[in-house]
Amino acid sequence: MAARELAKGIHWVGAIDWDRRLFDELIPLPDGTTYNSYVVRGNERTALIDSVDPSKEKVLFDNLREAGVGRIDYIITHHAEQDHSGTIPKVLEMFPEAKVVCTPKCKDQLKILLHVPDERMMTVADGATLDLGGRTLEFIHAQWVHWPETMFTYLREDRMLFSCDFLGSHLAQSDLYATDEARVYRSAKRYYAEIMMPFRTHILKHLERLAKYDVTMVCPSHGPVYQRPQLIFDAYRDWTSDTPKKEVVLAYVSMHGSTQMLADRLIDSLTKRGIAVKPFNLSRTDIGELAMELVDASTIVIGTPTVLGGAHPLAIYAAYLANALKPKTRFVSIFGSYGWGGKTVEQLAGMIGNLKVEVIEPVLVKGMPTEDDYRKIDALADAIAKKHEDAGIE
Ligand code: FEO
Repeated sequence: MAARELAKGIHWVGAIDWDRRLFDELIPLPDGTTYNSYVVRGNERTALIDSVDPSKEKVLFDNLREAGVGRIDYIITHHAEQDHSGTIPKVLEMFPEAKVVCTPKCKDQLKILLHVPDERMMTVADGATLDLGGRTLEFIHAQWVHWPETMFTYLREDRMLFSCDFLGSHLAQSDLYATDEARVYRSAKRYYAEIMMPFRTHILKHLERLAKYDVTMVCPSHGPVYQRPQLIFDAYRDWTSDTPKKEVVLAYVSMHGSTQMLADRLIDSLTKRGIAVKPFNLSRTDIGELAMELVDASTIVIGTPTVLGGAHPLAIYAAYLANALKPKTRFVSIFGSYGWGGKTVEQLAGMIGNLKVEVIEPVLVKGMPTEDDYRKIDALADAIAKKHEDAGIE
């Protein structure tokens, strides 16, 4: 896509990656992504804010040409991850006067990841400013969104916040802006779940600090630009709050149908008790969808058969993922079917040390469930309902 003007002298010069379907060889991207790069011109100097993934290098240079950018004085580098910094060596080559502007930690990362030479970089302190001539960039150090070296830039005169990965979304679309708010909200929530959620406590601090700034436009480094910043700030405040919703994420896998029968019963049982349940059959699940539902869930229930003496590998992956993403979940339980024994419960319970949860009595049944086993599943639903009620979760 061609360069786009956000305001007089400020252009989006990034790239849309319509076809990318996997990030970090791990995160599914059902809607592709964008690598947003921006040019800000002052009366005297020009800054490029972040670059693009190296696979889109040509698009960046075409866009810079189209925007009439003949000189770059500063490359504001919020984050050293290669989807934003990977084209910096080429930009430095093409614009020999340009200097990378970044945090001290980012400088270290750029040296080791991209071999950017010392003399082409300058570090900025938290709160430092850079005058472009009639336009002032203010740098806000923002560790752990989602690396330790990150920062944001606030463009004072235009009241624009360049937030890098923070507040972003993996969403390729021709509309530069978050016009379809419902679609962007969902995409941003998925992105938050997959990338930002483990850093919830840091994010709360960043949100508090940003509340002091008058922001009329948020320009992240992935996904659409927010002309109504309240959309994404309100969403982040909700997602990072300590209060979960009355929802159960039910992540399960079944080999011969018995665990499936228990899962079906638990879904019915929870629904009858007025508890929203989000079932994920792990053999078919998009792991990003599962992550997204973990954002609000009060309770996670993992269902698994016992195989080779322990949980099914897909259930182990789900437990590992939940533990790594650190949602605000309060309760966990386990259910499943086994043939002759094993350590399924001990194994899964031992994998969730990061979660501040209470484990509700698991239900493991031998073989195909009996009426008595179904009653135990109903009792599990009762226990979940009671825990939610006692914790004041609505
Ligand atoms: Fe979009 Fe952390 O890079």
